[in-house]
Amino acid sequence: MPIIAPSLLSANYLNLEADCNMLNESEADWYHLDVMDGSFVPNISFGPMLIEFFRKATKKVCDVHLMIVNPENYAEQFKNAGADNLTVHIETCNHLHRNIQQIKSLGMKAGVAVNPHTPVSGLSDVLHDIDLVCLMSVNPGFGGQKFIPQTLEKIKQLRKMIDDKGLNVLIEIDGGVTLDNAPSIIAAGADVLVAGNTVFKSADPTATIKKLKSL
Ligand code: DX5
Ligand code: ZN
Repeated sequence: MPIIAPSLLSANYLNLEADCNMLNESEADWYHLDVMDGSFVPNISFGPMLIEFFRKATKKVCDVHLMIVNPENYAEQFKNAGADNLTVHIETCNHLHRNIQQIKSLGMKAGVAVNPHTPVSGLSDVLHDIDLVCLMSVNPGFGGQKFIPQTLEKIKQLRKMIDDKGLNVLIEIDGGVTLDNAPSIIAAGADVLVAGNTVFKSADPTATIKKLKSL
């Protein structure tokens, strides 16, 4: 069964409490929280302050996806805000191994995200140090974009790398996940489905989460 991680980027910010209550009572496993800095990505979202509020609203895993430059300057703040998983982009880290060690030493699970153009082979030497790989299936920055089909090939490659090394690293797919493409994403070897628009723009978000979970 896939882990379902609705992205709060698509929630209703005029009534976040209602969306949190919906998620808490749903079969969602994680809260996926997208932090954007307007520098690494062309959009600005929210930071640790809002994550502190999400943390208070839930006992589910808070999966924080940092789309920011210099993530090492903020890792401790996100830990204090309540992040369980902290994911940094390989494209923003000159010393990725150091970033991973920092995240783990703060007591969080460490994730590495890769953009659509970044080959998964670049993860080979850190794979045994991390808990999660976030494969971007859209260019990061916005919800509601179309899934890039080449991602399926990357999932298969990464699945093989992880299995060949006998590791227990989760593969998370982020961007453009729908009820239609989720079966092929799971069949390719993904463990975690992030879903923003598919969940929050659907007529019945709870039922949509249930459908994703049962795939
Ligand atoms: C994109 C974010 C995603 C986004 C996914 O930069 O990292 O998590 O919220 O949204 P959907 O599922 O609508 O593509
Ligand atoms: Zn994300």
